[in-house]
Amino acid sequence: MKMEVINRYITIKNHVDGASQDSDFELRSSPLVLSLEPGSDEVIVKNLYVSIYPGQLIRMKSYSSSQECSKSAAAITPGEDIDAYGVGKVVVSGNPKFGKGDIVAGLLKWGEFTVVKPGGMLNKLDPMGFPLSYHVGMLGSVSGLSGLTAYAGFFEVCKPKKGEKVFVSAALGSVGNLVGQFAKVLGCYVVGCAGSKEKVALLKEKLGFDDAFNYREEPDLESTLQRYFPDGIDIYFDNVGGHMQKAAVSNMNINGRIAVCGVISEYTDRQKRAAPSMMDVIYKRIKIQGFLAGDYLNLFGDFLSTTCDYLRTGEIQPLEDISDGVESIPSALINLFGGQNTGKKIIKVAEE
Ligand SMILES: NC(=O)c1ccc[n+]([C@@H]2O[C@H](COP(=O)([O-])OP(=O)(O)OC[C@H]3O[C@@H](n4cnc5c(N)ncnc54)[C@H](OP(=O)(O)O)[C@@H]3O)[C@@H](O)[C@H]2O)c1
Repeated sequence: MKMEVINRYITIKNHVDGASQDSDFELRSSPLVLSLEPGSDEVIVKNLYVSIYPGQLIRMKSYSSSQECSKSAAAITPGEDIDAYGVGKVVVSGNPKFGKGDIVAGLLKWGEFTVVKPGGMLNKLDPMGFPLSYHVGMLGSVSGLSGLTAYAGFFEVCKPKKGEKVFVSAALGSVGNLVGQFAKVLGCYVVGCAGSKEKVALLKEKLGFDDAFNYREEPDLESTLQRYFPDGIDIYFDNVGGHMQKAAVSNMNINGRIAVCGVISEYTDRQKRAAPSMMDVIYKRIKIQGFLAGDYLNLFGDFLSTTCDYLRTGEIQPLEDISDGVESIPSALINLFGGQNTGKKIIKVAEE
């Protein structure tokens, strides 16, 4: 007899053009037969962990230029299931590359099961002795996963040197915390900002940042950065855009580098735009570069071995924030924009 399950998954009811709220989402369920037609090369995966990341909100907008420029930012259609990076276990496979019970990583769904079509992004996963959740975030390889984003953005885009002064925004987010930790291992002076005093304490006491501040308590960001960087900033790793980017540019040193990884403060409010001084950019010869992690897959091998070594030696600390169950996906996404997460936000969908 064919086994059938009820697959619960998340959809959006409508496009989301500002901040998202609970009423934008719907938890749906539909029956799924856990077997394949003869000749099918699909793979049915039981999702174990799925990633929650700010880029998903941009994909929910009725229009964003990002949706045209990057496959990983493809538009999400109301009513359809939503793809997201994750780790799962193969339940049935028509593809000879995969067998029942294999642990896999790839583009899954915000739901309990994923039917991966031929050509879908799916790879067998060797956990290398680390928890599976690490492979959703800090050891992840593609855009939307934090590890390679932090590694490529910091080392390739910023080209850091030992002793340089580095500023990281959203420093306790999934990308920012790793950037700061990579920078400390290299021997840079690192200051981060985050949105609460508890986060500031974590940055300094757990992650070893040289200093940190709560941006919500600072009415004049330009003078705040002057206080934390009396000799100027060499590298700014920008996760937030908006006013912070403007303030950072005015505090950059000559030949400073800014990696624009994301502009989260602008995702929920079209009116908020970074407006840095172009005079500063010209006369200080500041290099401002946007980037996508997916453009640096060639660095994956280096990134993985370096990061695994640092994790094993304790030179970098893992920082994850895990909630349980598909029903917690909407609030997990909403809360990223209120700063409620500490480190990589992940949903544990099922027991391993
Ligand atoms: N270029 C790429 O390939 C790539 C890949 C992945 C992510 N990204 C981008 O990188 C950035 C960081 O992503 P992530 O995954 O590390 O984030 P995350 O773990 O989801 O954390 C986001 C953090 O941003 C902060 N934040 C939210 N709204 C803010 C606002 N209006 N102003 C200032 N800070 C705000 C919050 O912390 P606090 O407010 O407490 O500081 C929140 O915890 C995002 O902009 C994301 O889109 C880019």
